[in-house]
Amino acid sequence: MDQLVIAGGQPLTGEVEVSGAKNAALPILCASLLTARPLVVDNVPELRDVGTLLRLLGDMGVLVERAPRRVTLCAESLKEAVAPYEWVKTMRASILVLGPLLARFGRARVSLPGGCAIGERPVDLHIKGLQAMGARLEVTHGDLVGEAERLRGARIFMDKVTVTGTENLMMAATLAEGTTILENAAREPEVVDLAECLVAMGARIRGHGTDVLTIEGVPELSGATHRVMPDRIEAGTFLVAAAATGGEIRLSGARPRTLDAILDKLVEANASVECQGDQIRLRMRGPNHGVSLRTAPYPAFPTDMQAQFMAMNAVAQGTTVVTETIFENRFMHVQELRRMGANIEVEGNAAIIRGVPRLEGATVMATDLRASAGLVIAGLIAEGETVVDRIYHLDRGYEKLEEKFSCLGASMRRRVAGGNA
Ligand code: UD1
Repeated sequence: MDQLVIAGGQPLTGEVEVSGAKNAALPILCASLLTARPLVVDNVPELRDVGTLLRLLGDMGVLVERAPRRVTLCAESLKEAVAPYEWVKTMRASILVLGPLLARFGRARVSLPGGCAIGERPVDLHIKGLQAMGARLEVTHGDLVGEAERLRGARIFMDKVTVTGTENLMMAATLAEGTTILENAAREPEVVDLAECLVAMGARIRGHGTDVLTIEGVPELSGATHRVMPDRIEAGTFLVAAAATGGEIRLSGARPRTLDAILDKLVEANASVECQGDQIRLRMRGPNHGVSLRTAPYPAFPTDMQAQFMAMNAVAQGTTVVTETIFENRFMHVQELRRMGANIEVEGNAAIIRGVPRLEGATVMATDLRASAGLVIAGLIAEGETVVDRIYHLDRGYEKLEEKFSCLGASMRRRVAGGNA
């Protein structure tokens, strides 16, 4: 398995461009199932999860053409409406084919995602919502098997704010008969990006960006061209890495207003942040003060940035508390940070971090995508060499990671399994 070898201790400086957002690209690529016409998607990041989804869609019979950063998909007809376990187990977002398949083809068989490293992650709200729209769904041999004649609009209240749940139901509702109202919907910018793509395809959606979505179903959707929004989590990861190493960087191609909660926390940690157009410039004013934070649905602080901030807090002045309210098992990076010398205590869903003057390089194991990003930041701060093992997690969500960090002056290289590249 590939490893990332980091020689820490260098402040990051320079400029880097933000890639397209993984969590917007995945649902948008699935939206191609809703139309017989070509959907052209631009600014698609080169990531393992994107490759996985395109292979899954291709196996279903969707014609997929790839050019650099552009994917053209055409789901004129379908061979099979099946997402097998091999795909779903490597990428839970495969569940996003369920709503579109039921809405347009009236059938779907999607393997149930099991538990994963960051918690149980059920899909009950996806199922409940589709049932309210008239789909018949049952679990057979570990697969979720669904059937529907034309879906009907419904009023659906979602118990919990769920990002992919909102996306699945919104996509299904675009082709339903009548109006669907989704209450307590997710407001994440990636949900808005998907809604904008669907609107360009002819969907009638109102309220995206708020917690009530109104979708008036139409008989069919057309093709469209859509540009995926910039990745706010990738942008946030670079910014925290720069702050934690006492550096100074400029990001281009970002959308600063989707990063409000993150930028606010960086300022609180003692960074100076300036935004202009699609650029964000960050420079540390002095010592890293660290920040206490609590994850919650957008527009509050994103769970996908929690591990990165924890790495920064590990070497901050004073004590901070990080509270995780979205996923029940998202402190897998704590043990690894401790092995690098961090002083972190976990009590329930809160981590108490007492800043130490320095971390020491070590061999650490990545357990999930964002935990891995936290370990990379810890490696950049630490004295000596850090080896991050199992970096396939990082390849799922960060485009050209070592190349981009190297551009910012980091000493980071990939050691390919069985080789020494
Ligand atoms: C998405 C993001 C992921 C991010 C997460 C929270 C994608 C592809 N992934 O994941 O990067 O960390 O949002 O911002 O966009 N829940 C239920 N029942 C359901 C669905 C969810 O109880 O049917 C719970 C989950 O267990 C969790 C919470 O709701 O506690 C939020 O999860 P959700 O927003 O659905 O996460 P994902 O969409 O899987």
